[in-house]
Amino acid sequence: MSVTNFCSADAQNGAAVRAKVTFQTIQEKKQSGRPITALTAYDYATARLVDEAGIDLVLVGDSLAQVVLGYDTTLPVTVDEMLHHTRAVRRAVKHAIVAADMPYGSYHVSVQEGVTNATRFVKEAGAEAVKIEGGANRVELVERLTDAEIPVIGHLGLTPQSVHRMGGYKVQGKTMAAVDGLLKDALALEDAGAAAIVLEGMPREVAQHITHKLNIPTIGIGAGPDCDGQILVFHDLVNLSFSKPAKFVRQYGDAAGVFRSAIEGYLRDVELREFPGESESYHLPKETRAALESASPIRRKA
Ligand code: KIV
Repeated sequence: MSVTNFCSADAQNGAAVRAKVTFQTIQEKKQSGRPITALTAYDYATARLVDEAGIDLVLVGDSLAQVVLGYDTTLPVTVDEMLHHTRAVRRAVKHAIVAADMPYGSYHVSVQEGVTNATRFVKEAGAEAVKIEGGANRVELVERLTDAEIPVIGHLGLTPQSVHRMGGYKVQGKTMAAVDGLLKDALALEDAGAAAIVLEGMPREVAQHITHKLNIPTIGIGAGPDCDGQILVFHDLVNLSFSKPAKFVRQYGDAAGVFRSAIEGYLRDVELREFPGESESYHLPKETRAALESASPIRRKA
């Protein structure tokens, strides 16, 4: 059975069969005007929740560097670290498309190295697609990956791997020249074979303009409501990012609050010797217990 042949496994277990999401599915969603849903995930537990909720696409984003590994930027995360987390997500996800971000440096030195690294995500971690940042400068790589049967998701606008070139995390595409540049990049990626494009950190009007000009789906983050779909970083969605949320983030839950109160409750109960209780303890059979106690009576502290 192939790693993505999940429907038959569900059917064998008698579970309701939910169709596997594919790039054809999200292309059809664009054509019929139904929004594409996407979220990042980096581990088994959260990826399961995201997939079971019915999200179309799970991205193992290089935002992993910041929200999971605690770096200031996405730049330090390595291919091996991304592979490790992609495998965990792969084990959890049965229906959504699993896409992996190619980290900084893994496709910037040469096209050949980019193809070699991308094939690792497919072969070693079960990714169904890779995401790369950049436009016209990535055309050859997108062509080569597409030729190697690897669906590619482009990423334009505020591209975090370009943080030093951009001079910070700034909204892109604010002048007509910049809008033209973004559109040219988007069309170049589509012509090269990209299966979808993430549009990040750009005015709503620009994302709408690009979305209308493209045949492939756009997935927006900080790019307004007119993209074909939306993506957010999981940790932003549930308040686990330890930073002031960006303007475009909507928090749908307070995981930090839930975790904090659980941790504080545990801490308190351990300190007061209220955890573990009698019902949370294992016991010897009666006779063995009696024998143990007569052999060495338990002395309680005064
Ligand atoms: O790394 C990431 O999480 C991303 C999304 C923000 C699209 O690239």
